[in-house]
Amino acid sequence: MLLRQAERMNSVQKSIIRQIFEAAQGKAINLGLGEIQFETPELLKKRASEVALNENCRYTENAGMKEFREQIANYYHNEIKPDGVCVTCGAAEAIHSCFTAYVNPGDEVMLADPTFLAYEASIKLNKGVPVFYRLDPDKEFSLDKEDFAAKISSSTKIVVICNPSNPLSKCFTLEELKYMVDICSEKNIMIISDEIYRELTFIPRQPSILELYDNSIAISGLSKAYCMTGWRIGWTASKISQYIKPIVVAHQYQSTCAPYISQKIGITALSEAGMATIDEIKAQLQKNYDFIVNYFSTKMAHVKYLKPDAVPYLFIKVDQDDTKLAAELAYKGVIVIPGSAFGANGKGWIRISYALDIDLLEKGLAFLATSL
Ligand SMILES: Cc1ncc(COP(=O)(O)O)c(C=O)c1O
Repeated sequence: MLLRQAERMNSVQKSIIRQIFEAAQGKAINLGLGEIQFETPELLKKRASEVALNENCRYTENAGMKEFREQIANYYHNEIKPDGVCVTCGAAEAIHSCFTAYVNPGDEVMLADPTFLAYEASIKLNKGVPVFYRLDPDKEFSLDKEDFAAKISSSTKIVVICNPSNPLSKCFTLEELKYMVDICSEKNIMIISDEIYRELTFIPRQPSILELYDNSIAISGLSKAYCMTGWRIGWTASKISQYIKPIVVAHQYQSTCAPYISQKIGITALSEAGMATIDEIKAQLQKNYDFIVNYFSTKMAHVKYLKPDAVPYLFIKVDQDDTKLAAELAYKGVIVIPGSAFGANGKGWIRISYALDIDLLEKGLAFLATSL
């Protein structure tokens, strides 16, 4: 007889996103991926081949190579020390390591509704209780302050923000951030801020939570800004180095260390020349964004979408059942993600990504236009 899976696994289901992918036709155009589908910059690929040929790729320190952690500290203008950094296998592992390190059974962790799915799953796997604060769909998904304040309880341990947001590609305003920081500071609540899209804004780069609140951990990585999803580099960083210690232990028992070769590329990525490669990626994304805005204004002028502060998502109002629509579109040949997948307040919206080849994007939009 087969053994049953551990009970904690029953608290997490296969995501709606996975279900949509599985329902899609083999050749469906994928506007659903949370991935910028361009090439990794040449500079970084070359560096990878040099490292592969000339170095022995071994284990590194669990927290990551000292030189890379110094670079990350430098990225935050030395607001933090290298000991305040743990390099992880992508931001996904950073998220799970943070919750593993800090969530006790019954601890409440506040999450935006809507937000990225991985937080809720990881909190539940650690037997914490996700509590959702409202982003108001009728006010361009701005923070519902009253709701936020009302959801704080004596069990609240952590507030999570995703800034810029997946799925909204929107940033919290400084005023909203200060509002949350003030409440958290008064109640001694930690803020974990996922800033993986921070380099990819249309508006000026936003401050990291590390600049606003000491009792915080920032999560980021190379997957999005450098088109390096497959290289698996992320990190957690805090001004309070002590906060990073249990995260290093959680990370150690999950993956020992992030890949040597990828950390080496990371050092180049965060150098001045490496940071400059983000501008090329942003320029391409800007072209795609201009294309999509033009497409909407000429061919789908009746359709409303949330004006983004960042790339690569467009959150589109659909005035119909978003889950049914996504299933129907997947069958027709284009994958989009229903807004409900990200929380109740995403109902009646869909998320698309425009970070792919423009010809494919145009074909995908043509399918979309037939259903909206
Ligand atoms: C908000 C957010 N955080 C984290 C991740 C995971 O990134 P990584 O590839 O670095 O694990 C994603 C990926 O889609 C994301 O959208």
